[in-house]
Amino acid sequence: MCGIVGYIGNREAAPLLLESLKKLEYRGYDSAGIAVLSNGQVTIRRCQGKLANLEKILLQRPVRGKIGIGHTRWATHGKPSETNAHPHRAGEVVVVHNGIIENYLELKEHLLKRGARIESETDSEIVAHLVGEKIQKGMDFLTAVQKSLKQIHGSYALAFLNQKSPDRLIVAKNSTPIVVGWGEGESFVASDIPALLDYTRRVTFLEDGEVAEVTAEGFRILDEKGKTIRRPHKEITWDAVAARKGGYRHFMLKEIHEQPRALADTFRGRISLREGEVSLEGVHLKAGEVKQIKRIHLVACGTAWHAALVGKFMLEEIAKIPAEVDYGSEFRYRSPLIDSRSLLLLISQSGETADTLAAVDMGRAKKAKIISVCNVVDSSLARKSDGVLYTHAGPEISVASTKAFSTQLTALYLLAIGLGRLSGRLKRADAKRLLQDLMHLPHWVEEALRLEGEMEKLARELCGAADFLYLGRGINYPIALEGALKLKEISYIHAEGYPAGEMKHGPIALVDEKMPVVVLLPKDRYFQKTLGNLKEVESREGKVIVLTDEGSGPIGATAYRVLSVPKASHFLTPTVLTIPLQLLAYYIAVHRGTDVDQPRNLAKSVTVE
Ligand code: AGP
Repeated sequence: MCGIVGYIGNREAAPLLLESLKKLEYRGYDSAGIAVLSNGQVTIRRCQGKLANLEKILLQRPVRGKIGIGHTRWATHGKPSETNAHPHRAGEVVVVHNGIIENYLELKEHLLKRGARIESETDSEIVAHLVGEKIQKGMDFLTAVQKSLKQIHGSYALAFLNQKSPDRLIVAKNSTPIVVGWGEGESFVASDIPALLDYTRRVTFLEDGEVAEVTAEGFRILDEKGKTIRRPHKEITWDAVAARKGGYRHFMLKEIHEQPRALADTFRGRISLREGEVSLEGVHLKAGEVKQIKRIHLVACGTAWHAALVGKFMLEEIAKIPAEVDYGSEFRYRSPLIDSRSLLLLISQSGETADTLAAVDMGRAKKAKIISVCNVVDSSLARKSDGVLYTHAGPEISVASTKAFSTQLTALYLLAIGLGRLSGRLKRADAKRLLQDLMHLPHWVEEALRLEGEMEKLARELCGAADFLYLGRGINYPIALEGALKLKEISYIHAEGYPAGEMKHGPIALVDEKMPVVVLLPKDRYFQKTLGNLKEVESREGKVIVLTDEGSGPIGATAYRVLSVPKASHFLTPTVLTIPLQLLAYYIAVHRGTDVDQPRNLAKSVTVE
């Protein structure tokens, strides 16, 4: 899940590649590099760490040339270091790669036997050697790439530069995205559209197995057999809003505060309160099809998986359709019982998560209907699905997902109501009531954001803790998981989310006076039960932090802290409870001085297995 870019035309390549890479830094920031060709010489500048480091190097040692490739890396094979940074060179050939070459060890062994000098620990360098050795034997650039691709197994988006071919770049794709942009006398290559939008809106996506020969005048796409493919370009009409922090210290805080607006954008224009109907335009499901669905399989990763867990409650209780939830990485390797009466519901902010995307192919093979809930317009997932419900959260820059999560919850709520109405299993009057509730959601979230001061204070008190526990029940149990994940990823504190009732079966052994235990305790059908679990923690001297929609009342007497969120309806309470947990994780990370928006070892978009 690295970012790759390429350019050929009349402009200086280096500054353009750098600017384009900045739009892809969400894909990884372990190292960065560019290669530029001029006067028969390729110059490579690369370094460990973020693009800012590369920018400094380029200021001190600029490179000139009108054709080049660039890369920002999330390390998979080989630690983050300058040697492992892309581009990689072998003879005349230079390559940047996103993906994983699964048979690289075997290939490496053969290359070493043939005398190749392999410098890095990466799987990617192997590809440069495969192409380089063929060119050295006299093969032309394109054929050498095509033949090398036949030797590799795995996922790749590749861009090649050849010292002896100053008039072309070659790119190839399998399982990870690559898009080519059309300009006037210039062409662009990138992993993702935002990297191109400053230069062109005319783009063509490559499909799996394809190779493209990119020149300043345009490009030629070839399929696996070498046959030329004619594919019309696509005009990108949306804007990658120049993501700025807007006065906030971090993107994460800005995105937390954007939630009331983002949630309204998710449902705006999709509901009719008078009719009690939801318009699922874009989802392309007819009433007859919905009635035929016997099971919904929700598949997602990370935070989106937590949204899927909440979605299961909504789909079963509102739409009355059985639902099950899988991690993308598990679903792809088990044998789920899916057929033409199954609905695959994939949830992803980026729409580029490899494990989630893999479910599409499985669903296709079994003739299931494939719907996605996605934030990024025209992402791979959106393009591959039969229908999409966009969350309209706007660009999410911080690696830790906040507004993408809450808008996924809203989209799933809309979907549950819409499917319930289409199947006839949800009465119009009930749908009207659920939609009325939704109208209040932005306001409830706004109110919950007022807890910011208190969460900051609490964060200051708790930021030294080594472990945290988050407890919830029923539809709010996934929110305990999400609260723990947020804390882990940005503060590096160990945290676990647990169903409150499961505590006594093991995790209670961890509780002592140093352990903060965050208990989600809305006044719902589980209130008394969860209260009982809270008392169990207190009797082991755990530091109980209660999030409730009741007044502090009797809970307050013994708890370390009680914080009140506004009372919301049953299905929308998870969204409201999420807000203080996001703020708590954020301020703990700030107090610990971590890199909040780009936490260590993570990337925003996980395009590898
Ligand atoms: C969220 O805070 C995480 N960074 C991560 O778990 C993320 O939700 C996951 O990688 C899935 O991403 P996606 O929604 O883009 O598919």
